[in-house]
Amino acid sequence: MAYESYQDFINTLQQQGELTRIAAPVATELEITAAADVQMKAPGGGKALLFEKPTVNGKLSPFPVAINTMGSWRRMALAMGSASVEETARELGALMKAKPPGSMREALKLLGTAIELRHARPKVVKDGPCKEVVHKFETPATRTEPWPAAPAIQTLPGAGAAPTLLDLPVLKCWPLDGGRFITLPCVVTKDPDTGERNVGMYRMQIYDSGSTGMHWQLQKVGARHGRRYYETGTRMPVAVFLGGDPMFPFAATAPLPDGLDEFLLAGYLRRKSVELVKCETVDLEVPANADFVIEGYIDPRESLREEGPFGDHTGFYTLPEPYPVFHVSAITHRRSAVYPATIVGAPPMEDFYLGAAAVKLFLPVFRMNFPEIVDIALPAEGVFHNLVFVSIRKTYPMQAFKIMHGLWGMGQMMFTKYIVVVDEDVDVHNTSEVLFRLCANTDPQRDSIFTRGPADVLDHATSEVGVGSKLGLDATRKLPGEGFKRAWPPLIRMDQSVRLKMDQLLNHRPH
Ligand SMILES: Cc1cc2nc3c(=O)[nH]c(=O)nc-3n(C[C@H](O)[C@H](O)[C@H](O)COP(=O)(O)O)c2cc1C
Repeated sequence: MAYESYQDFINTLQQQGELTRIAAPVATELEITAAADVQMKAPGGGKALLFEKPTVNGKLSPFPVAINTMGSWRRMALAMGSASVEETARELGALMKAKPPGSMREALKLLGTAIELRHARPKVVKDGPCKEVVHKFETPATRTEPWPAAPAIQTLPGAGAAPTLLDLPVLKCWPLDGGRFITLPCVVTKDPDTGERNVGMYRMQIYDSGSTGMHWQLQKVGARHGRRYYETGTRMPVAVFLGGDPMFPFAATAPLPDGLDEFLLAGYLRRKSVELVKCETVDLEVPANADFVIEGYIDPRESLREEGPFGDHTGFYTLPEPYPVFHVSAITHRRSAVYPATIVGAPPMEDFYLGAAAVKLFLPVFRMNFPEIVDIALPAEGVFHNLVFVSIRKTYPMQAFKIMHGLWGMGQMMFTKYIVVVDEDVDVHNTSEVLFRLCANTDPQRDSIFTRGPADVLDHATSEVGVGSKLGLDATRKLPGEGFKRAWPPLIRMDQSVRLKMDQLLNHRPH
């Protein structure tokens, strides 16, 4: 189901009892985080929150803030407009099974074809609600100097007046954060060589009324596009949008292969083409039904600027690192825009559901390359990709090691520090069951492998930024040829009929 606006999605959450509205004024500095953190850590992900009167530096903002809107399996399914994430995953898997691919490259191509089958190609339209209010700053063509710092705001404009960055209800999430950060921005860029579009989610630290940091990490597609502009010294157009259909931020965070348009995936998931409008000041397109659009550019002649510290996914602060500066040339928005936010920090947080839903969705792609894979889980404690549990149908010696190497070579799985492989009868979503098998089934030296590779730049434990080691653990039952010379013992399990008999006896016992 396609949502016509973010507000439309919020209304659905309310109808489904998934939303709590907060009418009292709440500060965007720390207070929204404190409330959202409690919800995100509540069993099952708590409720989505809508702060109707957020304040910025003590002044009321005209824009409400919504948070934790996808932070549970139910809300994620509602965002997808399906009964469950599993149902959407099954549907996509079935589409891809219709014509089994022979290789990973083919599997990814097929994913694109499957998406197109639903006529989900984005289309450009003339106008859209994201342009109900248009505020242009100095155009990129006339600007040559970095944006000057703006004076602190005294009043906030009404919803009809166009805001600067300082007027948006952007959160200062944690006490030691270096400032306010836009935490759910969908960042649109184009490859200058091929014209291919990318939409990625890279947080943006507000520097002043007209500039932010652009935190695309080394290995991300936005950074790859950026490097080409730095090489040629040409100004890089960038468009950022917030809100609209919840499948936009989902697609922006999904680990799609470079070159596969996120708007295709969003269109497939919402069962309706994404309608795009041309930006006002840069040659890029954004969804017509977005709530906010921030247009601008990155100037390769300008030095990088320290970004951070920021209370990060890792549960620790990421210390300042140099990143490009994004200069704003226009802000457009809906008249009654809702500002979408999230927070990251010690797990579990809302982003667990974004990452875990993407894994469920792309499991068929993994299985195409590795048919022995039964299931994959990224437990919340591993904050996204630090820790991966994978169950396999093992038929030959060393197969678990093949899977580890294969996964480390697949897209953002390169960041995984620990992979634990278990047999097919283990529920990988039950961490306690996986740990039991890990402890029981391994001889640590024989069943482990260390290797080196690229690391998440947010990982504060690696000795160097972006480079680290990985540990694979084979917790499967050992086969001949794996150095195990003894008989493998059976797992203790009660006879089913005896178990049933005793269950009945206990359940019918007089109290
Ligand atoms: C809430 C949230 C915030 C994120 N912030 C960043 C970020 O600041 N920088 C970054 O490189 N990736 C960040 N990510 C991860 C990327 O969005 C993710 O790796 C995505 O697949 C990148 O898209 P790309 O492969 O098109 O570059 C974030 C993810 C989430 C869920």
